[in-house]
Amino acid sequence: MDTLARRRRSTSRLPAILHPLAAYATFRSGHAPSDSPVKTSELWNPSTRQEAALLEKLDQSRLPRHVAIIMDGNGRWAERRRLPRVAGHQRGVKAAREIIEACARLKLPCLTLYAFSRENWSRPQAEVEFLMRLLREYLKRELPTIHKNNIRLTIIGRESDLPEAVLKDLDRATQLTARNTGMNLVVALNYGARAEIVDACNAILRQARASGSQEYVADEAAIASHLYTAGLPDPDLLIRTSGEMRVSNFLLWQIAYAEIYVTETLWPDFSRACLLEALIDYQKRERRYGGLGTPRAERDHSSHGKRSAARG
Ligand code: FPP
Repeated sequence: MDTLARRRRSTSRLPAILHPLAAYATFRSGHAPSDSPVKTSELWNPSTRQEAALLEKLDQSRLPRHVAIIMDGNGRWAERRRLPRVAGHQRGVKAAREIIEACARLKLPCLTLYAFSRENWSRPQAEVEFLMRLLREYLKRELPTIHKNNIRLTIIGRESDLPEAVLKDLDRATQLTARNTGMNLVVALNYGARAEIVDACNAILRQARASGSQEYVADEAAIASHLYTAGLPDPDLLIRTSGEMRVSNFLLWQIAYAEIYVTETLWPDFSRACLLEALIDYQKRERRYGGLGTPRAERDHSSHGKRSAARG
């Protein structure tokens, strides 16, 4: 039996809204599955009981505005299966596609994926070329769906160093989706946070010189507005897969107050259930921004016994 037939058979008793193929079709067609307000369990069709239970636990009114992900562990995923590293990247794209769709369904305002760092050029040329090809294939295949679902694609990083053909595809994709008003999908490519801060400082200096000002003093707002991420909210949640406790030169300015979630799961295995676990964990955190937060008794009272994320 082919995969499609197997899925049809295993899901044939689900109500229409919970049918995986129906959900996939609605995402492909760009139409919302139903009128709002949407019950959490109707956002998509849980593929396992665990996923369904996690969906029930998620509080849709307290989602982060911006989730940033360091997708790590593609190489190890492949090595553990005695496959070439590029097979891990291939599965990594599949995971990225699933997480992008899930975040769009959750109506997260912003999702940033760290796809290629400035340091990644030091990998073997064949791996770098494969990654660039994968990105172009992803865009070719998924751009119509991204656009139909009102997702705005933005690239952050020193784009001019990217190969001409990649740049051309990226330009087309970002221009096509520029006026979309749904989720911001930000892909970090040839990205490094220190380079971003240097670029922001130089842009400010250029402006100050051009205006002839000798007295100009920059402040935090000036720097934030010259970063590649200008106009986007700072990440509330930073997820890193594969267990490494590092931020690897990713969004250093913007993650000043982000909650950090590290999972041992390798990126190709990072499923919707893994995303839900991260979001639920985030919702249990108390965010203080350097203050004292809300006293426990008050917190417990105002959230009717649920632990509050006290979002500032
Ligand atoms: C790290 O794995 C991952 C990368 C270098 C990024 C590649 C990302 C993808 C292929 C996902 C593509 C995303 C989009 C938006 C289409 P690694 O090779 O460093 O793993 P390792 O640490 O186990 O060697």
